[in-house]
Amino acid sequence: MTEISSETRFLHAVEMGLGAWQWGDRLVWQYGQGYGDEEVHKAFLASVNEGIRFIDTAEVYGSGRSERLLGEFLKKTDQPILVATKYFPFPWRFSKKTLTRALRGSLERIGVESVDLYQIHWASLTMSTDLLMEGLVECVKSGMTRTVGVSNFGPTRMLAAYSALTRHNIPLASNQVHYSLLSRGAEKKGILARCKELGIRMIAYSPLEQGLLTGKYDANRHPTGTRGGHYAKLLPKIQPLIKLMTEIGQDHGGKSNTQVALNWVICKGALPIPGAKNEIQAQQNAGALGWKLTDDEVAKLDEASDLIME
Ligand SMILES: NC(=O)c1ccc[n+]([C@@H]2O[C@H](COP(=O)([O-])OP(=O)(O)OC[C@H]3O[C@@H](n4cnc5c(N)ncnc54)[C@H](OP(=O)(O)O)[C@@H]3O)[C@@H](O)[C@H]2O)c1
Repeated sequence: MTEISSETRFLHAVEMGLGAWQWGDRLVWQYGQGYGDEEVHKAFLASVNEGIRFIDTAEVYGSGRSERLLGEFLKKTDQPILVATKYFPFPWRFSKKTLTRALRGSLERIGVESVDLYQIHWASLTMSTDLLMEGLVECVKSGMTRTVGVSNFGPTRMLAAYSALTRHNIPLASNQVHYSLLSRGAEKKGILARCKELGIRMIAYSPLEQGLLTGKYDANRHPTGTRGGHYAKLLPKIQPLIKLMTEIGQDHGGKSNTQVALNWVICKGALPIPGAKNEIQAQQNAGALGWKLTDDEVAKLDEASDLIME
């Protein structure tokens, strides 16, 4: 296990964050239908009130609206908030200058002088990993971000990013990947183990499998929007896992499926960033903190998830 560098240690101390993709996104999350600016502000306030201090956004979320809303919300709180945003590798971006330029745009929208974590959203079709890392190095050197990370990088590409940054004496702070009880690829492909070994924080996105692990959706009740089609085949199979989660939650004084799903991610050593559309969801998600599943319960949940994903 590599020692965690002093620059990135703060990220390892964060147990859970809040995802802000929901803030302005219409295509997947139907922003404006049933929830809007006021509801997501309340979700932000409830999270902060519950001790959540890490917010994950991206320049592409709601075409910049998520970052703008975050900026507004930051002005209205006196709590220190850690901000993470992302660079999107559009195919027309092919020079390292596009990273500093994009980050400047994000900082303007958020209304801050620097962020705590700047991540490459996906691998690029037009830029090599080395070139992307050179751009991230510039972002750190310019003082516009405290640390840098990647997202959706497999084990080989992650290692290449880690090595490229190390040559500049900059640690790779994080790899943000899809990880939940219904998406264990990051664990099975060895990304989680490699992250732990190298002192990289693995950030788990879609930790509730976009709402499926809350138990409110099933074969007859599909989520709205693109999620309905995307999960049509998986939904009829998840009931045994949901039932087990409910039983385990009851053994912990009535924890909800949502709280069990997030606690499982934490027990695995990753940092979940659940999205929340409103105050109630944010409050419930925060209830994943302050208690722990036993090793035996984690093993049982692993087994139930394996049976579905086989
Ligand atoms: N790096 C990447 O490529 C990438 C990709 C995806 C996400 N992310 C990040 O990860 C964050 C989280 O992932 P995600 O938003 O895809 O999925 P998620 O956190 O697994 O699910 C969020 C959704 O679940 C439902 N929900 C949340 N809390 C709930 C509760 N307590 N009770 C009932 N329902 C609840 C809500 O949708 P409904 O109420 O509509 O069901 C909410 O929008 C994003 O906000 C974003 O910051 C990153």
